[in-house]
Parts: sequence; C-alpha cells; structure tokens
Amino acid sequence: MNCQPNAPAIPDLPVGIFDSGVGGLTVASAIRRRLPDETLLYLGDLARMPYGTKSPQTVARYAVNAADFLVRRGIKALVVACNTASALALEAIAARHPDLPVIGVVEAGAAGAARGSAAGRIVVAATEGTCRSGAYERAIARRRPGASVVCVPCPLFVALAEDGLTDGPIVEAVARHYLGAALDPAAAADCLVLGCTHFPLLAPALARVAGPGVRLVDCAEATADLLAAALAGPLAARPGAAGGLTLVATDAPDRFARIAQRLFPALAGLPPVELADLGRPPAPAAAPAA
Ligand code: DGL
Repeated sequence: MNCQPNAPAIPDLPVGIFDSGVGGLTVASAIRRRLPDETLLYLGDLARMPYGTKSPQTVARYAVNAADFLVRRGIKALVVACNTASALALEAIAARHPDLPVIGVVEAGAAGAARGSAAGRIVVAATEGTCRSGAYERAIARRRPGASVVCVPCPLFVALAEDGLTDGPIVEAVARHYLGAALDPAAAADCLVLGCTHFPLLAPALARVAGPGVRLVDCAEATADLLAAALAGPLAARPGAAGGLTLVATDAPDRFARIAQRLFPALAGLPPVELADLGRPPAPAAAPAA
C-alpha cells in the first residue's frame, strides 16, 4: 500500500493484477463486471511468458518480481491472476507484503470444482507447473475429500490463446490430444476445471470436446467474489468512482494490445499499453547442499 505524503487515498488506489500474458484478463474482466468502481492495474509479463513450462524456482522469482513492481506503483490489493504463479508463489508474495490483501486463483478454481462436480470425478486442465505442484489436488481434497482429481498439462493452450487462435479445428485437435484420455466416457469425468487463466478463452472448443455431461469450471467469477470480500469496508472504491483499467506489459506492448482487444472487444478505446521494466528479479535460491 502507498503511504507517501500526497499519495492517493487508499480507496482510490488501483487493484494490481498480473499474469504472464493475456490470460489474466479473463479474471480482470470478471472483476470489472463485479466491481465497476474499482481501478485496475494489469501487468502482463510477456517478456518471460510462458510461466507454465519454467521451474518452480524461476516462476517464484518472476512472480515475486511482478508483484513487487505493482506494489511499488501503489496498489491496495493484489490478484495473482495466474494459476501457475498462485500454485508456486502465493505464499512468498503474501509474506513479502503482509499488509496487502493477496488473492490467488487456485483456491477459487478448486472451490468451483468441489461445488460443481456432481460425482467428484474432476479433470483439471492446467500448465505443467501447476500440475507438478499438486496445488489443485490439495485444494480440492480440502473441500471434497474422496474426489478423484486428474491434472492434465496442456501447455499449447497458452500459445493458442496468446496467438488469438481460440476456436476451430486446430484448437479442438489440440484439446483432444491432451484431454482425450481423461475425458473418455469410460473415465466418467463430470467436471473440467480450466486451471489456467488462458483456458477460458478456448471454452467453446473445450466444451465440445468434453461433451454435454462435463461441466466446465473456471476461477474468474469466484476470484472476483474473493476480491469483493477483501475490499469490503475501508479499502473499497468510493461508490460512483470512475473505475478503469491500465495495461502494462514487460515486452511487445503493441502485440499485447492487439491480442487483448481482439479477445476482449470491450477493451477497445483503452490508452496504449505501457512498456514496463520490472528490474532484476530476486536472485535464484542457492542450490541445496549435496
Ligand atoms: N495464465 C497462466 C496460468 O494461469 C500461465 C500461462 C503460462 O504462462 O504458462 O497458469
């Protein structure tokens, strides 16, 4: 939070949101619908995308660096709109900024799955990093002990979304390649969690591949609800405040703006995307002694 003299009053500060790229805009859009008075400051870490194929240590360094940048800009709450960073770095970020409400997306996705699955047979489509972390299995087990959870890494979905290729035969073929076995009728899955914030952009194609008996769950609305609860009271924007969204990217701001406006037409008319230098990420942790 910003405590400088002449700094904006806390309710007027933006909510910081970050992801590796455009995926987190699925969460930012839900937040705009739910909390239209709030100003949002969104960072897409395009220079270091994708996060999902990187080691846990590298994702944690990048995510901490992105969070620190937003905190330096002045924010009153932080939404980690990336499942990979939420799975691997949420605790480290919260520990560095103990006075800041920090909200991740995995808990919201897991809550949706626990509620939305009739028989407790849940498939999570996510990045390699999220699947390797076991975060969804743990978060769903806390809410729905005994549920079966299969996490399937789907890394190409991120590239498809970032390219604006969100539907059609190529997307369906990639979806079948990754999810065909887990969603085979013999496996009787009844819930598909979109466990990466890029994946809701592919939802129509994923729904066709999953078939009518499988409910799709994503974390966006539930994350917006968690943020609304965290801001209730003195942190909330003044009613009728103008709201707004500023986009910042660590690379290729024009490309980011083009894809963001194609995928989220409501963003047309925003000011140009700012280019940001986050500074050096924290040093890698020392290798464990042999
Ligand atoms: N959108 C991100 C997530 O929710 C990460 C995508 C990536 O950079 O691999 O996991």
